[in-house]
Amino acid sequence: MAKRRFVLIGNGYAGQFNKKAIDAVGGELVACCDIIPERASAYEGAKPYTDWRKAIEEENVDFYVICTPSGLHYEMTTELLRQNKNVIVEKPIVMWPEEMDIIACAERSKGICFPVLQNRYNPYVDYLKKKVLPRMGEVFQVHFAGYWRRDPQYFTGWHADIKMAGSILHLQFLHHLDLICYLFGKVDSAQALSATKKRKIEFADSLVGTFNIGETFGTISCSVLPTIREETCLTILAEKGFVEIGGKTLNEIRKWDAPLPPPDPGIRPDFNRYPGYTGSLALHPEIYQNIVSVLEEGSEPFIPLESALISMDFVFKLLGQV
Ligand SMILES: NC(=O)c1ccc[n+]([C@@H]2O[C@H](COP(=O)([O-])OP(=O)(O)OC[C@H]3O[C@@H](n4cnc5c(N)ncnc54)[C@H](O)[C@@H]3O)[C@@H](O)[C@H]2O)c1
Repeated sequence: MAKRRFVLIGNGYAGQFNKKAIDAVGGELVACCDIIPERASAYEGAKPYTDWRKAIEEENVDFYVICTPSGLHYEMTTELLRQNKNVIVEKPIVMWPEEMDIIACAERSKGICFPVLQNRYNPYVDYLKKKVLPRMGEVFQVHFAGYWRRDPQYFTGWHADIKMAGSILHLQFLHHLDLICYLFGKVDSAQALSATKKRKIEFADSLVGTFNIGETFGTISCSVLPTIREETCLTILAEKGFVEIGGKTLNEIRKWDAPLPPPDPGIRPDFNRYPGYTGSLALHPEIYQNIVSVLEEGSEPFIPLESALISMDFVFKLLGQV
C-alpha cells in the first residue's frame, strides 16, 4: 500500500490532532502551511509554507487538510476542489447559507471533500443509531443541552470575529447538532431566541431553540456562560424507551430505559481520552482510516459532504438565516 501524502494547512490546535491522525494511518506530511512561520516549520521533513496558495501547488499530494479558522474553509476548499484535489476539512465546512453551493463545486470536481465530524464515531452514538433506535418505535421528542464555559480570553483573535467564527453553534455545538441530524434526519424547521448576555462578541453567547424533524419535536439550549466547565446532554423520548447521554462529549449514559441493554462502557473506554486531554478529538484517526480506504478500496466516505451540510442547514435555520 503506497504511503499517502498530505499537506496540512493551519497548524494550531486542530491541526496538531489532524497531524496525529495522519501519523496514525501511516501517512507522510509533505508540507505544512501556517501564517505563523514557526508553526509552518514545526514538522521535520514537511516543507514549510506561509502562503496557502503556494502550499497547494505542492504536487503528488493525496490529501490537503484544512485546519485554519472556520471562515477560511469555504474559500480554501472550493479552490482545491476546482483544482480536482481531495480535501479533508475541519468543521464547520461552510459558514453561511450562500456557501452551500460548495456541493455543486464538489459535484463538478474530480476531487473529494471529506468533512471532519469525528463524533459520529462515538461508540454510544453508533450503538444508538444501528441497534437501539430502530427498536425504540416512534421518537416523540429529542432534547439537547450544551453548556460549555468559554471565558472572555477565549473570545480574542478569530473566535471573536463573526466572519471567522460564525456563532457559538459553529464554534462549540456543531458536533452535537450534527449528531441530532445523523441520528434522526434532516430538520424541517427550527427557530430560536438568542442573546449576547456577557461576552464581548458580535454573536449570541446564549441560545434556546425548538425544531422538528417530521413528527419528532425537539429543543436545544446552548450557552458558553455556565460556571461549570463543559456539560452536554442528549435526551431521547420515544414510544419504547427513554435514553439520556451526557458528559463532555456524550460519553456517559445518564438514563437508559430501552429495548436493548446500555452499551458496554468497555466497548471503547478510551474513545475520548488522550494523555492530558479528554474530548472527542481522539476519534480523528477513525475519520482518516475511512478516508484512506476510500482511495485504496473505493469504499464510500463515512461522512459524505451532503450529510455534513444537513447539519449546517440546521444551524442556519436556528439562526434564522434561511
Ligand atoms: N473537529 C473538532 O473537534 C475540532 C476541534 C477544534 C477545532 N476545530 C476546527 O478547526 C479549525 C481551527 O481551529 P483551532 O482551534 O485549531 O484554531 P487555532 O487558532 O488553534 O489554529 C488555526 C491555525 O490556522 C493558522 N492560520 C490562520 N490563517 C491562516 C491562513 N490564511 N493560512 C494558513 N494558516 C492560517 C493560524 O495561525 C493557526 O495556527 C476551526 O475551524 C475549528 O472549528 C475542530
